[in-house]
Amino acid sequence: MVGAQSPSACNRLPFEFHIFDEPEMVKKVSSIPMGTKGFSQNFSAIVVVVGKLRAYFSERDRHVIYIDAALASMSFMFALETLGLSSCPINWPDIEECEKKMTSVLVDLEPDERVIMLISVGYPAPDGMVPYSQKKELDLLRRYN
Ligand SMILES: Cc1cc2nc3c(=O)[nH]c(=O)nc-3n(C[C@H](O)[C@H](O)[C@H](O)COP(=O)(O)O)c2cc1C
Repeated sequence: MVGAQSPSACNRLPFEFHIFDEPEMVKKVSSIPMGTKGFSQNFSAIVVVVGKLRAYFSERDRHVIYIDAALASMSFMFALETLGLSSCPINWPDIEECEKKMTSVLVDLEPDERVIMLISVGYPAPDGMVPYSQKKELDLLRRYN
């Protein structure tokens, strides 16, 4: 998987991609985060990216799973594009109710495992267009010295 080629601290790859491609499960999992309303019916698959805190023994590194998994997720999304698939990162909100629902789906989740984000995957409509995303000016995003 391309995601495994991404850099991760000490090459620990402290994550797992839980892929759901069975329609009933796609529907169920997609209904849990909040940012899927209005387009989740188009998902062919949904990926739950899970980070494993056990990969880093020091408390000071507890944020690293989020960095590592995000880098791998971006590589994964670029790879999907090369296969003619579209994707969308989906925010995982820090809401107990959502955690409970997700734990009922990911029944084998270990106590140190954290949902980091979701990635929806689907086939782009042949006549679909890419929505324009206004970006900040470069000078607002970089600074020298
Ligand atoms: C961490 C993260 C969470 C996101 N969550 C959602 C989401 O819940 N629902 C959604 O439709 N898009 C979500 N997005 C997609 C962003 O809205 C999108 O990347 C942004 O509007 C810029 O558009 P572009 O990626 O086409 O340039 C998320 C993106 C990131 C990086």
